[in-house]
Amino acid sequence: MYAQMVKSTGDAVKSREDMSDDERHFQDKVDANIKVEPRDWMPDDYRKTLIRQIGQHAHSEIVGQLPEGNWITRAPTLERKAILLAKVQDEAGHGLYLYCAAETLGVTRDELTEKLLSGRMKYSSIFNYPTLTWADMGAVGWLVDGAAIMNQVPLQRTSYGPYSRAMVRICKEESFHQRQGYAIMMKMAQGSPAQRKMAQDALNRMWYPSLMMFGPSDKDSVHSAQSMAWKIKINTNDELRQKFVNETVPQAEYLGLTIPDENLKFNEETGNYDFSQPDWDEFFEVLKGNGPCNTDRLNARRKAWDDGAWVREGLLAHAEKRAAAKVAAE
Ligand code: 3HC
Repeated sequence: MYAQMVKSTGDAVKSREDMSDDERHFQDKVDANIKVEPRDWMPDDYRKTLIRQIGQHAHSEIVGQLPEGNWITRAPTLERKAILLAKVQDEAGHGLYLYCAAETLGVTRDELTEKLLSGRMKYSSIFNYPTLTWADMGAVGWLVDGAAIMNQVPLQRTSYGPYSRAMVRICKEESFHQRQGYAIMMKMAQGSPAQRKMAQDALNRMWYPSLMMFGPSDKDSVHSAQSMAWKIKINTNDELRQKFVNETVPQAEYLGLTIPDENLKFNEETGNYDFSQPDWDEFFEVLKGNGPCNTDRLNARRKAWDDGAWVREGLLAHAEKRAAAKVAAE
C-alpha cells in the first residue's frame, strides 16, 4: 500500500486523487493481488517499467552464460563438465522465458536485443567481473545465484501474470544452481591448502559484486517506490541485500571461509548482521560500461548476434514460404 512505500529520489508515485478512473481501478486490482494479464488495461509507465525490468533480467540471464561458459572446457571432471553445461543451458532457457514475458507487453525480442547491443539497456553488473579460477564457478553458484534467488523468489508474486509465472520455474532451477555452487565450494574448502586458498580468493572477489546485484541503496533507487506501489517489486533493494547477508554468513562459517568485511558483526538489537556497503562508485562505473569485462561481454553478444543472422534469415524465409503456401491453398 502507498503508506508503506519507501521514499525514493526517483519516479514520483501518483497520489490516489491525481489518478484517472482507469488508474485507480488498476491500482485497486494490484492492491487486491489480482494478476495483471497482457490484454488488461495498464498505465503506460507500468508497461514501460516492466519492459525495462524484464528485459534487463532476460539480458542478465543470457550475458550470465558467458563467465560460466568460459569454464565448460576446463571443468576438472566429466561430471563437473556435464553439470556446468546443464546449468549454462538453464540460463539460456531463463532468458527465453523472460524475453517471451516481455514480448507479451508489445516489444519484440529483436528490439530488446538491439537496445542491449547499442548500450541502451542494462544487464546485471555482476557479469562484468571475470571468472579467474575453477573456484569462481563455486562462488558464482553460491553467491550470484544465491543473490538472484533472494531477489527472484518474491518476484514470483509480482503483479504481472506472465512475469510471475516465468519466475516460478526460474526459481526452481536457480535453487539447484545455488546448491551446485555451494557443493563446489565445499569440495574446495575441504581440499588441499591450495584449493582452500582458491575458494577464499573467489569469495574475496565475488562478495561485494554480489551485494551490488540488489541495486543501489534505497535512498538512491530511482524506481523502487513506484515499482513497489505497482507490486512489480515486492521488497526494497536494501531489504533483500540484508536478507542475503543474514543467510550467507552462516554458510560461509560452515565452509570455514572468511567474508572479506571487518565490520561484519551480528547485531543483537536488530537481529541482523551489520556489514560494509560495497563501493558504490565502482558500481556506477560498471553500469556506465567501465567494469573489467563490459567490452568483452558486449562484443561476445554482438558476435553471437551477427553469427546467428543466417539462422534467423533462414527461419524467417521458411515461415514466409509456409504462410504463402497456406494462402495459395485457401
Ligand atoms: N546491475 C545493473 N543495473 C542495475 C543493477 C545491477 N545490479 N541494480 C540496479 N541497476 C540499475 C537499474 O536498472 C536502474 O537503471 P535504469 O533506470 O537505467 O534501468 C538503476 O540502476 C537504478 O536502480 P533501481 O533500484 O531504481 O532499479 P530497479 O527498481 O529496477 O531495481 C533490480 C533493480 C533490483 C535489479 C530490479 O530491476 C530487479 O529486481 N530486477 C529483476 C531481477 C534481475 O534482473 N536480476 C538479474 C540478476 S542476474 C540473474 O538473474 C542471472 C542468474 O543466472 C544468476
